[in-house]
Order: sequence, then structure tokens, then C-alpha cells
Amino acid sequence: MGFLSGKRAIITGLASNRSIAWGIAQALKAQGAELAFTYQNEKIQERVKKMSAEVGSQISLPLDVTNDDQIDRFFSDLSQHWENFDILVHSVAYAPADQLEGRYLDSINRDGFKIAHDVSSFSFSALAKAGRHMMNNGGALLTLSYLGAVRSLPSYNVMGLAKASLEANVRFMAFDLGPDGIRVNAISAGPIRTLAAAGIKGMRQMLTHVSEAAPLRRNVTIEDVGNAASFLVSDLASGVTGEVLYVDAGYNTVGMHLSPNQ
Ligand SMILES: NC(=O)c1ccc[n+]([C@@H]2O[C@H](COP(=O)([O-])OP(=O)(O)OC[C@H]3O[C@@H](n4cnc5c(N)ncnc54)[C@H](O)[C@@H]3O)[C@@H](O)[C@H]2O)c1
Repeated sequence: MGFLSGKRAIITGLASNRSIAWGIAQALKAQGAELAFTYQNEKIQERVKKMSAEVGSQISLPLDVTNDDQIDRFFSDLSQHWENFDILVHSVAYAPADQLEGRYLDSINRDGFKIAHDVSSFSFSALAKAGRHMMNNGGALLTLSYLGAVRSLPSYNVMGLAKASLEANVRFMAFDLGPDGIRVNAISAGPIRTLAAAGIKGMRQMLTHVSEAAPLRRNVTIEDVGNAASFLVSDLASGVTGEVLYVDAGYNTVGMHLSPNQ
């Protein structure tokens, strides 16, 4: 019996077997959680359905987080399968490609700002707002952030602002939902080669840099993130809320980056 036995978890943001959501789904399943999945659109519906079956789930439902009706419909569709749930994993982010390259002030514009914040931050609170009536006491919400929330980086641009907003969202949601016995946390993951990451200019360079400069001298994997996630959403972390846990091989803790072989 795993430490998530008897817990029901919603996993958003599955797009491929490289998705962080996939690492989290596998880790939660390994600890005994029952899973339900969402998919953004019909293009990935079949893939998500197939992958959900691999981890024993028959539930995969459409959910575009920019659409309020779809958010409401999602929870009403889910209630046909589950009366309630314990865990929601928000692993969703997006900014138009032209926002994620070049100098910050050259790239940023009003539409890019709105879209990045809507999809990548507001959606976390929107899901909690629409779904909280189905959440069990002792439940946990988890989202995925990145170092760009607190440090400037090349190309990450407006997504850094959206992640800063997301981390503030974590703290405000934690304060709001604490009295209901619901915890809210984020994992700030190191760079991982996924579909979303492929849209960020200079990603390959960042992976090489982190693998040389991080204390563990490697990049993290979706398994590393999944294992930390399974702890944070479990009762083992019952006293932890409003936190951002770095799962980045220690990269954020280093004050001086060595050059290779040092
Ligand atoms: N890969 C990294 O280096 C890295 C590092 C730190 C944090 N993160 C974060 O992890 C999360 C997951 O990203 P990933 O790297 O696994 O990439 P991914 O491409 O596998 O996942 C991104 C997901 O967002 C979903 N999405 C985008 N717009 C959506 C919308 N409107 N409605 C519903 N879903 C939508 C996509 O369908 C996809 O499943 C994101 O929040 C990302 O910012 C990624």
C-alpha cells in the first residue's frame, strides 16, 4: 500500500510521455492514487486516453483552461465518475512563441502578457474556485513553477512574470483554503526537455549550463519532479502549504557558477 492509497487525483497538462504531468501521474499511481486526466483539445485526446489507460485510469476529459464553461463542464463531467477528489495537479502553461525569444522589452506586448497570465496563472485559481466544492478536507493542490518567477533569464521573458503571479497565487490560495484543510504548493522544477520547453529559445544551452553548474551536476527528470510531487500532495506533507519547493538539482542555491571541469 502506498502513501497515496485511497486518494483521488486530477492531473492536468499531459501532452506527451515527456510531460512533467506524466512523471507526476506515474509517481502518484505508484503510491496508490486513483487518477483522472484532462486534455487540452482533440488533437491530443487519443494520446492522453491511451496514456491514462497505462496508469489504470478510465477518466480523461476535455479541459481548455481559458474557457470558463469548459471548466464548469469538466467538474460536472467528473462528478459522474467521482463524488469528490483529494488532489489537483495544475501542470499547464502557455505564452505565444514570439514572447519567448529575444530581448524582454522587444518581445513583450499586451496580448502576450494577457495570454501568458491567463493560461499560466489565473487558470490555477479558476480550477480551485470551480472545483473546491468537490475537494475533500485534507486535500492538496499543486502547480509547476520555474526559476524565472524570481530571477531574470534570457528568453523566458513574460513567462517569468506569469510564474511570479502563479507563485503569489499559491500563497493567496493557501491562505484562503487553509481553514478548509486544503493545502496549496508549487514545485519549481529545473529545466526539462518537454514540448512546452521546446518553445523557449536557448533551452538546450540552459540544460547544458544547469548540468554543469548545479550542485548535483545534472538536470532533473520528470521522475525527480514526480516523486517530490507525490510527497507534497500526500499527508506526509500535512504541515506544508503556501510553499515553493525547488526540484532543480540545487541550481537555485548556487551563488557562483563554475565553468566546466572546475
Ligand atoms: N519543462 C521545463 O523545463 C519546466 C520547468 C519548470 C516548470 N515547468 C512547468 O511545468 C508545467 C508543464 O509543462 P511541461 O514542461 O511538462 O510541458 P508540456 O508541453 O508537456 O505540458 C504543458 C501542458 O500545458 C497544456 N496547456 C497549454 N495551454 C492550455 C490550455 N489553454 N488549456 C489546458 N491545457 C493547456 C498543454 O496541453 C500541455 O499538456 C508548465 O507549467 C511549465 O511551465 C516546466
